[in-house]
Formats: sequence, C-alpha cells, structure tokens
Amino acid sequence: LSSASSDVDAFIGCLSTAIPSNLVKTPGTNSYSELLMSSVQNLRAVLPGTTMPVVIIAVTEPAHVQATVVCGRRHSVRIRTRSGGHDYEGLSYASIHPREHFAVLDLAELRAIHINTTRSEAWVESGATIGELYYAVASANQTFGFPAGNCPTLGVGGHLSGGGFGALSRKYGLSVDNVIDAVVVDAEGRLLNRSTMGEDLFWAIRGGGGESFGVVVSWKVRLVPVPETVTVFRISRSRKQSAIDLINKWQLVAPVLPRDLYLRVLVQNKQAAFIALFLGQCGRLVDTMRRYFFELGMTQQDCQEMSWVQSTVFGYFDTASLPTEVLLNRTRTKDFFKAKSDHVCQLMPRKAWESIWDKWLDKPEAAAVNLDPYGGFMRTISPSETPFPHRNYLYQLHLLSSWFENGTETLEKRLSWMRGVYEDLTPYVSNNPRAVYVNCRDLDLGTNELEGNVTSYEKAKVWGEKYFKGNFERLAAVKSKVDPEDFFRNEQSIPPLPAA
Ligand code: FDA
Repeated sequence: LSSASSDVDAFIGCLSTAIPSNLVKTPGTNSYSELLMSSVQNLRAVLPGTTMPVVIIAVTEPAHVQATVVCGRRHSVRIRTRSGGHDYEGLSYASIHPREHFAVLDLAELRAIHINTTRSEAWVESGATIGELYYAVASANQTFGFPAGNCPTLGVGGHLSGGGFGALSRKYGLSVDNVIDAVVVDAEGRLLNRSTMGEDLFWAIRGGGGESFGVVVSWKVRLVPVPETVTVFRISRSRKQSAIDLINKWQLVAPVLPRDLYLRVLVQNKQAAFIALFLGQCGRLVDTMRRYFFELGMTQQDCQEMSWVQSTVFGYFDTASLPTEVLLNRTRTKDFFKAKSDHVCQLMPRKAWESIWDKWLDKPEAAAVNLDPYGGFMRTISPSETPFPHRNYLYQLHLLSSWFENGTETLEKRLSWMRGVYEDLTPYVSNNPRAVYVNCRDLDLGTNELEGNVTSYEKAKVWGEKYFKGNFERLAAVKSKVDPEDFFRNEQSIPPLPAA
C-alpha cells in the first residue's frame, strides 16, 4: 500500500460521498496550515525534512472516521490519527519517510463528554482534552476525579491509548486501569464496542499505543472518589540546601508513602522542587511528612488546601490562583522538545546523583529531570493486566529538554546533552530491556522496517520490548487478528505476529 497522487485524488473523491468538503483540507486549501498546526506541540516534528499529510480530515462524527478508513483502504492512502497532537515525535501528523502519502484524521472536534455521577462513569470522546475532562468531572460533582496526566491539553485519544500516568496513579492506577468500555473503528471500518471488539482488542487499546489497531472514537471511564479538600505543596531546594541528600531520601520513601500522597521531584534550573498532592487536609499531611520524610522540613506554612480540580491547575501551572476555566484552554505554548523516559528499580547511589548533577545538570542546556514515583496501587496490578508492563519499578525518570530558538546548533547541543546523560544513566536504570513508557515516544530506540508489505516483527522487537516487555508478543498477535495487512502503521506501530 504505497499511494501515488492519483490514489490521493481518488481517496478525496471517495471521501466526498460521506464527508462535507469543508472538513477535508488539502495543502492548497485555505486553513490547511492553520489546522495542521492547531495541536502540534513539538516544533521539532515540523522542521523541514519531515513529511506532512496530503490531506487532513477534521471529522465531527464517528461516521466520518469510518468513511475515511474505508476510503483509505480502498485507495491506498494510510491514515494517522491525531487527538491532542502531543506525541513526542509528532507521529500523529508527520512522517520521517520522505515519500509517504498519508492522511491525518483530526479528532479535535470529536470531543463530547457525558458524565453519569449516579454510576460514577463518563463517556468521553477522544478529541477532548484531559483538562476538559477534569473540568467536566468536577463540574458534575466535586468529589469525583479521574487519574490522568498533568498537562491539560493532552488529548484523551493518544493519552489513554498509551496508559495515562499522573498524580492520582499511586491511589487509582493509570487512566487505562479505569477504562471500562470503548468505541473503536477497526481496519474494516466497523464501529465496535467492548462486547463486539472482543477482549483481546480491548486489552490492546488500553496502553498498547493507539495507532496500531484502529481509531478509538470514545472511552467509557470509571470516575474515582476524591475528597472535597486536597492539599498541595511545592518546596524547592538548591544543591547548597542538601538537594542531593533529599533526592536520595526521596527515592526511599516516595514509592512507599501512603497511597493518598503523591510526591514527585522536578530538577530544573539547579533546583530540586518537591511537589505533592495529598488526598486530605493539611494537618494529616504534615503528620505524614514528619513520619516519612522529616528531612524536607515541610510545615503547615507549605500547605495549600483546595479542591481536586484546582490541584490539577496547580500541578501544571504551578499556581493555584488561576481559575479552573484555564483547563478549557486548548492552546499551549509551542516549543521544540526532546524527551526520554527511564525506570529505576534499585535505589540510585547518592554518588551517582552527585556525578550526574556535576557533569550534566548545571549546564545551560540541561533538561528538566522529573522523578515520578510508582508504588501504591500501581504495584498491585499485574504487568500483563494491560499492555503497560512497568508496574514494579520504584519510579520513572523522565528527561525533557525544551527550547524556543530554532537552529541546528541548538538542536544538536540539546540532543547531545540528552543522549549523553542517557548513556551515563545506564548503570542505574532498568536493563534487559531498558524500560520506557510508550507515551514518552522516542525514535532513538529504533524505527520500523518493512518485510514484504508488513512491518517486520523481529526489527520492531528492538523498540517494542522496551515499551511493552513480555506484552509485545501479545500485542503483535492482536494486530495479526485485527489488522493483518498492517494498514494502521507508523514508525513505531505494532507489527503483525508472523505465523509460527
Ligand atoms: P497525539 O494526537 O499526538 O497522539 C499520540 C499517538 O496516539 C499517535 O500515535 C496517534 O496516532 C495515536 N492516537 C491519537 N489518538 C488516537 C485515537 N483516537 N485512536 C487511536 N490512536 C490514536 N503522559 C503521561 O502519562 N502523563 C503526563 O503527565 C504527561 N504529560 C505530558 C506533557 C506534555 C507537554 C506532553 C507533550 C506529553 C505528556 N505526556 C504525558 C505524554 C502523552 O501522554 C502522550 O504524548 C500522548 O500520546 C498524547 O496524546 P495526544 O492525543 O495528545 O497525542
């Protein structure tokens, strides 16, 4: 299936019978660029040299998705699906292959949210943002929340299909641990729900990366209880204020703290910030911190009490003074970025922190280092329960380098910093495989190659086992069943499992 421009014309002709022409944008049409850029987060993914879609379809109903899949298959035009556009490598709207002709299904307008507080459930369409979901849940009832990531503009579609980790995960798991049904358009263009898609496909879309199996149109999620008042704090310490000793102690306590307490560390600008969400009031938090981590010196003065939804604003914007309506803002400052994820299973020696800090963290081009604790409820879930296998680690170590100025020199400097520190971390992080969270997509891990006209399973294993460990083979088996011709594919999509 490698399309030529005649195929593209035929594809567009095919779409016209089912989709209003004003929703179909080609590079020559008005507002193509505006639509293309609307949810692009990583400007690095739209630098010259990457290939952009030959058409973008701004769908407004599931039938449009079905028609696009049917027309795409019929006329040999592949599809990339975009919900919130936050893919780290831009794979939802750009390709690294120079001659690839592909269409983008943009789901941003497919974003209805229906909350059912009586049943503690919600249906949410993939094009909604996580911020919109948080806002809708709290507007229906302040004592409900939903576990997901901390950036409000994340698209529900991509975020949930890769896992969804955030401040409620130690208490309630990932987003996908709270998905109870979904509606998918498969490679045949059929609209399926959990009972009609079957448990294998339902398993695969909850963490296996969305792009490989179809298009998830909507998700039914379980809402989780949160108290009316939660407490947050942020305490920053420099190196002179014992930042390294504190990080060293943090590693020991953060994964074993009571599940109501999520305490991450963000090392940035030569400071280590300890950032907490506690599902309770200040008094109990102070007691807990004193018991587990008195070295941080946290006191009542550090507490800020608020509603859970306000804490999601604090978690991202680092201030509680913005109104919660900021969660509805779908635009986020765009920058160039590169990120990497790692997992730590044994405490990193204090000395290692010292040498990493000395060698890397004081440099002007240093990335932000985020340490996200697992443990709690995460640990109670079997690594094969969903495709996300990283259940038993102490914490995730995440590097995020972002910059605003375009230019090869800056790019090279940033990438070389990232790759250098990643190399130096090797002795201290998981190995065999070196475990990576698929929502932190990293093309340095490897990209797909074709064998005949399908993606090579053996080649894909190189990156695939890092994301999915033992679940990779099962994901490939599901792929063989639901998309044996490998219609839904990109640089890191799951390949079909070759016949034994
Ligand atoms: P996008 O639309 O780019 O899609 C990502 C991938 O999913 C693509 O391969 C796409 O084709 C596929 N896809 C999208 N919608 C689909 C659908 N409906 N059906 C099938 N496939 C679909 N993660 C986390 O767990 N916790 C966090 O706190 C954060 N924070 C964070 C902050 C920032 C600034 C960024 C850029 C990213 C994060 N992430 C994160 C990572 C995030 O979870 C990841 O990038 C998600 O894939 C983003 O989903 P979008 O829908 O926005 O991306």
